[in-house]
Amino acid sequence: MTKLLTVMRSAFLPIFFLALAFTACEGPKGADGATGATGPQGPQGPAGPSGAQQCGVCHNNSTLLFAKQSEWAQSLHGTGEMYVYGNQSDCAYCHTSQGFLEYNQTGVKPVTGAPYSDPATINCRTCHNVHTNYDSTDWGLKRTVPVAFYAATVASADLGKGNLCGQCHQARPSSTPIDLTNPNATISITDMRLGAHHSPAANVYTGSLQFVPNGNATVPTSNYHSMVKDACVTCHMANTYVAHGQATGGHTFKTVSDDGTIFNTTACKVCHTEVANLTKFNQIGSGFTDTFQTDMDSCATVMIQKGWMTASKNWNASSSKPLVVTQNEAAAMYAYNALQEDKSQGVHNPKYARAVLDNIMQVLGIK
Ligand code: HEC
Ligand code: HEC
Ligand code: HEC
Ligand code: HEC
Ligand code: HEC
Ligand code: HEC
Repeated sequence: MTKLLTVMRSAFLPIFFLALAFTACEGPKGADGATGATGPQGPQGPAGPSGAQQCGVCHNNSTLLFAKQSEWAQSLHGTGEMYVYGNQSDCAYCHTSQGFLEYNQTGVKPVTGAPYSDPATINCRTCHNVHTNYDSTDWGLKRTVPVAFYAATVASADLGKGNLCGQCHQARPSSTPIDLTNPNATISITDMRLGAHHSPAANVYTGSLQFVPNGNATVPTSNYHSMVKDACVTCHMANTYVAHGQATGGHTFKTVSDDGTIFNTTACKVCHTEVANLTKFNQIGSGFTDTFQTDMDSCATVMIQKGWMTASKNWNASSSKPLVVTQNEAAAMYAYNALQEDKSQGVHNPKYARAVLDNIMQVLGIK
């Protein structure tokens, strides 16, 4: 055995040392060899679209862009100047294009980028993914997730394509916290703007106004018009009468022409077949919208008589001269303001708006 080992040692050891020596003595790497000859050319790739093909999807001889641009130019989104005044951190996410897009990306308000230099009004790029894929998918909408409410009795609501509109056309938080757990307790109002701000359409549509007064009328939880697919978009953008200067529908977003003579009943007609020749909204429900506005005006008259409201329809309240009412009366004031600013004469949610108005009238002793 020992003998065998010795033989093996004598046989392998030199090899082992040789290997060690070669490793230890390896020299520096030699210079790279010369570059080989260029390989054969690969096959040609597929042809890319030409500028005319790619851009011509939209920038072409058709009136695709022009028609939408001229409708939009007649809309309040196009003509309004509130984006200048509204270029502040707590306003810009509804009033400027930049603010809305920032909020849409971050989900954070107030927006940190405001005031923006060169603020822009609500335009094609606020609502559409312009110049993203350079094809028809660019008409996709910028905001499609359910409306996230800022001040409502529900957290969110899915209005289909109307999610875009509802994110801006909704109530802002009230500066006056009304507490209806004790409706007869008093509250001191110091804010002449008590209310839901200027366009609580999405709250009225979903029946989610933060404060409505108690009363005999039962406020319903469902809306007939929730069956209108895409909500706002269907009624406000139904394309029908487009006459330069007095257009409705499409990208004017108007339901009534500026001179008040043309009513866009295209969407209504689909369901309200009970009216034979539907040309005005007040034909539906035998004057529903007219009665609604008359009753709203009666409320205003009474509130002016009571000294709650000034003749210019602001609340008669300030920190130096607080207005003391009951919590239920304050809720009636809030709800009146919201229905007035909603500007639909109850159409956004007829049964709900009517019940709320009935209770407001009851609080005011009209009903
Ligand atoms: C899906 C439709 C669409 C496609 C495709 C498209 N554009 Fe546009 N483009 C628009 C819209 C919408 C506007 C904004 C119009 C407005 O503001 O009124 C616009 C505006 C423009 C403007 C005016 C300046 C500006 O930015 O507002 C230029 C220049 C322009 N596009 C160039 C191009 C080029 C170049 C291509 C191809 C590479 C292209 N567009 C492809 C829809 C499109
Ligand atoms: C980025 C926020 C924003 C979005 C999104 C938006 N709006 Fe507006 N909308 C406004 C503002 C702000 C005004 C008022 C502009 C002004 O007065 O300068 C307005 C005005 C309007 C008006 C005119 C109101 C009046 O008093 O005459 C209508 C109608 C309207 N929007 C409907 C829509 C519809 C429908 C959509 C969805 C397709 C929509 N809006 C999307 C913010 C928005
Ligand atoms: C939640 C979205 C939202 C926020 C936040 C918001 N606004 Fe508005 N505001 C609107 C919409 C929508 C309108 C358009 C209402 C209409 O024309 O029917 C409007 C209209 C207005 C008007 C015009 C009212 C009229 O009768 O012509 C003023 C003034 C205004 N806002 C000021 C402000 C100021 C100041 C702030 C910030 C302190 C602010 N808004 C924040 C959505 C908003
Ligand atoms: C306030 C939001 C808003 C603004 C601003 C706006 N759009 Fe739209 N647009 C919409 C909505 C919502 C639809 C979908 C309408 C529908 O489905 O019935 C639409 C549809 C369209 C379509 C039809 C797309 C299709 O699938 O056939 C075109 C084209 C278009 N818009 C172009 C424009 C152009 C150009 C501008 C600027 C001049 C513009 N829009 C501004 C909201 C907006
Ligand atoms: C069932 C159809 C319908 C639906 C759905 C609808 N609206 Fe309206 N909207 C109307 C009518 C009708 C008016 C009242 C027009 C009038 O008589 O002055 C109106 C008024 C308005 C006004 C005031 C416009 C003005 O010129 O005074 C705004 C802003 C508005 N709606 C936004 C919205 C938004 C945002 C939504 C979605 C949350 C919505 N609407 C859903 C039918 C509808
Ligand atoms: C998807 C179907 C649908 C569409 C679209 C629609 N409505 Fe309605 N609306 C209803 C239903 C259902 C009722 C409740 C039953 C009834 O009164 O006919 C109702 C009720 C009403 C009421 C209350 C009537 C009453 O006597 O209580 C008014 C006002 C009204 N709608 C106006 C409109 C206007 C204006 C439009 C178009 C801008 C419109 N609706 C579009 C389905 C629709």
